[in-house]
Amino acid sequence: MTFSLRQIAILAVLAIAVLTSVLLRSDSNDEDGPIAIVDISGNELLARGEYLAIAGNCASCHTTATGEFMAGGVAFETPFGTLYSTNITPDADTGIGNWSERDFLNAMRHGVRPDNEHLYPAFPYTAYTRISNEDIAAIYAYIQSIPPVNQSAPENELSFPFNIRPLMAFWKAIFFEQGVLEPRSEEWNRGAYLVEGLAHCSACHSPRNGFGAEIKELHMSGGEYLDRVRTGEHRPWSAPNLTSTERGLGLWTQQELEDYLKTARNDFLESFGPMNQVIMNSTRFLSDSDINAMAVYLKSLPPIDEALVRPGAEAPDPQLMGRGRSVYNLHCGTCHLPAGEGDPEMAPRLNAGSLVVQSPNPASMINAILYGPETPGHPLPPRWREPMEEFQYLLDDEEISAVATYIRNSWDNSAGAVTPEQVARQR
Ligand code: HEC
Ligand code: HEC
Ligand code: HEC
Repeated sequence: MTFSLRQIAILAVLAIAVLTSVLLRSDSNDEDGPIAIVDISGNELLARGEYLAIAGNCASCHTTATGEFMAGGVAFETPFGTLYSTNITPDADTGIGNWSERDFLNAMRHGVRPDNEHLYPAFPYTAYTRISNEDIAAIYAYIQSIPPVNQSAPENELSFPFNIRPLMAFWKAIFFEQGVLEPRSEEWNRGAYLVEGLAHCSACHSPRNGFGAEIKELHMSGGEYLDRVRTGEHRPWSAPNLTSTERGLGLWTQQELEDYLKTARNDFLESFGPMNQVIMNSTRFLSDSDINAMAVYLKSLPPIDEALVRPGAEAPDPQLMGRGRSVYNLHCGTCHLPAGEGDPEMAPRLNAGSLVVQSPNPASMINAILYGPETPGHPLPPRWREPMEEFQYLLDDEEISAVATYIRNSWDNSAGAVTPEQVARQR
């Protein structure tokens, strides 16, 4: 076995890590204060807990496609190996049936288990740490009320040394900023509380450093991670810039964003890919006022240019544009129309306003072309006359790089060239 320099560096701090782990744990809990059970009836408490669990989208990560509700076992592919979500039903042996309210708060706020072991941040406690004691208590009450399931999660397959849990203490000491974000009555604060806490949008939409931690200075300016494509394999996805840049969320109005989060659609497009789970399992069930607050908060994020992390792509050369135009006219124009203006029944517009098309990182756009965009489907009524097919067998890397480059630099778009290597990486 050979170790990279980074792994050796990490090993060297293992000893400190274990020590920090002890310190961290004893410090934090005294500051949390009492877990205030909300002064409402049992049913109301459960209803509130259920609403908050939906806002946090626990089910998307803790329920497999064919498995029991919240029984865990969902696989997460990371650069450090494969990790499985755990059973969070109230089963006493394999779930969290024996956990006290305080144990649950410690997991959500501090990322620690009752046995003092550290949790991996694939569980987004880095965002859940912002949730208030009251709301955590309500989620706890709800989780303890769902049917218990006896089932253990598969063993993690993490590479050395990431399979050593105590190392997480070190990671947390450097990268994890814990603490509640107090909800207040104003719209913006409510939006911030939801977006930065339960909805954990930044888990995917923020760039991460080599240790898998979100880069604070570049918060929400666009991230990349591995997720499922339509054909079932895992590929890199780019989650676009949600700050108000010209190629980020600045492209959408507040109303377009609200419609998208509430209905998976707006005037010109429908959700596809990883956002389906976010919207269909979570945001579409939130109240109009919560969606409005989230959009107000998101639209207020000051612009951070994604080019800071990802230097701008090169300007496209005319020959490539010419080739892209022929591919477009032959394979795409029938649905997206010759000038990319889209058609309410056939296909979304590509000529303006698409964050996915204009993103400096073209990974998600290429996924849509290679594998076909997977739309939410049932229970939504069909939006388009027919689905877009997958082009992975029909077009080679050159052709896809040409057509993507053409779309990204025609009409109102200007997002630079896509290379055949970038397409090959997504295959
Ligand atoms: C993005 C995916 C994701 C989401 C969303 C998510 N979890 Fe998890 N959760 C995980 C993973 C992965 C683990 C296992 C972490 C580990 O092994 O260190 C986990 C672990 C946990 C644990 C620790 C259980 C144990 O036995 O150690 C609890 C408690 C938990 N999650 C509760 C929740 C709740 C409540 C929500 C919703 C508010 C939620 N999770 C949302 C991925 C997620
Ligand atoms: C599991 C990872 C993940 C989470 C969590 C997530 N997103 Fe996304 N988001 C993506 C990816 C990947 C894309 C690009 C592909 C797609 O649309 O699925 C995207 C695209 C978007 C787009 C642009 C859609 C388009 O078609 O142009 C918006 C707007 C958006 N996300 C908002 C949000 C908001 C708001 C939240 C929090 C409520 C959120 N996302 C949470 C992964 C995520
Ligand atoms: C049969 C009609 C049809 C054809 C042909 C077609 N598309 Fe699509 N395309 C769609 C539909 C429908 C969607 C909607 C997915 C959605 O909104 O979630 C879509 C979505 C997209 C998206 C994502 C847009 C966004 O803003 O999120 C891109 C990029 C795209 N198509 C590119 C292409 C390219 C390139 C071609 C040709 C190689 C092509 N399409 C051919 C129907 C088509």
